[in-house]
This record gives sequence, structure tokens and C-alpha cells, in this order.
Amino acid sequence: MTTATAPGKIILFGEHAVVYGEPAIAVPVREVSVEAEVDDLRGASPGTIFLEAPDIGLRGWLHEAPPDQPLARTLQLVLDEFDLHEFTPIRVHVHSTIPIAAGLGSGTAVTVAVIRAFAEHFRLPLPLQRQSELAYEIEVLHHGTPSGIDNTVVTFERPIYFVRGTPPEPFDIGSPFTIVIADTGKPSPTSQAVQKVRRAWEADRERYEALFEAIGQTAREARGVIERGQVRDLGPLMDHNQALLEALGVSCEEIQALIAAARSAKALGVKLSGAGLGGNVIALVRSESAKRVEDAMHGAGAVRTILTQVGR
Ligand code: PMV
Repeated sequence: MTTATAPGKIILFGEHAVVYGEPAIAVPVREVSVEAEVDDLRGASPGTIFLEAPDIGLRGWLHEAPPDQPLARTLQLVLDEFDLHEFTPIRVHVHSTIPIAAGLGSGTAVTVAVIRAFAEHFRLPLPLQRQSELAYEIEVLHHGTPSGIDNTVVTFERPIYFVRGTPPEPFDIGSPFTIVIADTGKPSPTSQAVQKVRRAWEADRERYEALFEAIGQTAREARGVIERGQVRDLGPLMDHNQALLEALGVSCEEIQALIAAARSAKALGVKLSGAGLGGNVIALVRSESAKRVEDAMHGAGAVRTILTQVGR
């Protein structure tokens, strides 16, 4: 049996503006992950795959799954990439602890874990960059025109400074820091949020381009601050990025409630993470006040919190 994993992710700075060419920063979240297992299946016909993904209620043969089922699409892409046809039948089991549709990169992590499990099982090594490109192809099928930041950070499993269309820049964390990720429980519709921003930009390019640029500037500054380990300066940058995201129109009542709660519990900085209009809020906290911030956010409606150590 072959097992491979891929982590979750959060965007720390620069979401939305990254679609328009500004830099963004994302980090892997190792506290949650996807595990994909591949093993031989005796007695079945050659070239067949039995799929098990209990977290999404999927169990059956690949050739009987609807072709647009996301996991079926991923497997087909991987088979094409490796040009696999007449292989010993296999069972593919996917298990995830990454909350689905919550902006933590669960779909991307499934793709990357499956690609890695196949690569290892069939002894067909695949460079990280190619893994990332394949994961991007799947993203395009589901989200239209993603910037590419999700597949990059999930594949490289390192903090990434990302500018669309340029090679990803992994960078080092000067001093580890603690983030509380709190889920509003409201699904974050990535493509809807991206479209909403696009329409607003089309209606008033000057105003929106100034906002994108200001967001990009927070990401640039944040990279230096993170590399130098100046954790204290990171909070105000997150707050500023949040104010700019509010001006873009991608916050919502549920996000604002969690932000207010985190601030009242003395988080050092707090913002939405990902597409917004739901999804997650991230709060930078001192490790000794993490529990207090988590409790406050639960009290304000968070359905789940995850504590992650960035750079440890
Ligand atoms: O919803 P998420 O976490 O996949 O983040 C989307 C980030 C955006 O910048 C809004 C879109 C993108 O493709 O980068």
C-alpha cells in the first residue's frame, strides 16, 4: 500500500488583489491534511479503480462515477498524465481532516495527495512544479480563473510569496507565530466573490485598482516583517488588509462578528482569509491568549476553530 498526504492552507495577505497581479502570501496548515492511499485490488479487471472517499460519501468504481465528479476528474487527469491504462486494479482511499468548502484548500489537497500516491505507487516520480500545475488544472475546472496561489502553497508545503504568472517564491519565517482560524460556517463561494469584485472593478477601475495596489503593499510589507521575525508588526498589517477587503465588498456580517470578538479578546490582528463572503477569519494571537480568542470567536458564531503554528 502507498500513502501520500497534502496539507491545508490559508492566505495570510493579498487575496483578491492577487487575481489582478498583486503579490499575496499563503502558508500551509499542517494541523489538517488529506491522506490518499493506493493499493492493489485482487480479482478486479485490469485498469479499474475502486474509489473510497467516506468524507464526501463516495464509494464505487471510477468508470461508473459521473465524469464531472471532482475526485473522478482528478483521477482521470492523473491517469492521463502518467499514460496509465493496463495496470493491476487498484483501490484508492481518500481521507481528509480539512473542512470542505471553507477556504482551507481541501479540494486542492485532495488532488495533490492523490497525484502523490499515484506517483509513488506506480514509481513515476513527478516534480513539485508539475504536481502544482496539475492541481491548477483541476482548480480551473471548478473555479474558472484561479490565481494559482492555492495549488502552489499546498504542493510546496512552504510559506509562499506569490505573484501570478511568476515562479513561486518560498520564504523563511524569522520567528514562528500562532494563528487561530475560525470558520463562520457560511460557505465561501470563491467564484461568486471573485465575480463580485470583477464587476465592481469594471464599474470603477480607478478606485478598485487603488485598493488592489494598497492590498499588494500590505503583502510586500508583511513578507519583510515575517522574514525578520517582527511578529508584533504583523497584527496592524492584517487589520489594514481587512479594512481594504471590506472596501472591496467581500466581508459580511458573520465575518464582522468573528472579527469583533477576536478584537475584544485582544487578538493582535484579524482579517478574513480566502474569498470572503463567508469562510474563514484568521486571528494572530499570543500563544497564551489563543484559548481566550478561540472561545470568544465560538461565542460569536464560529462553528470550528483550528490553531496553527506558522513556521514551526
Ligand atoms: O477561497 P480560497 O481560499 O480558495 O481563496 C481565493 C483567493 C482569491 O484571491 C479570492 C482567488 C484566487 O484565485 O486567488
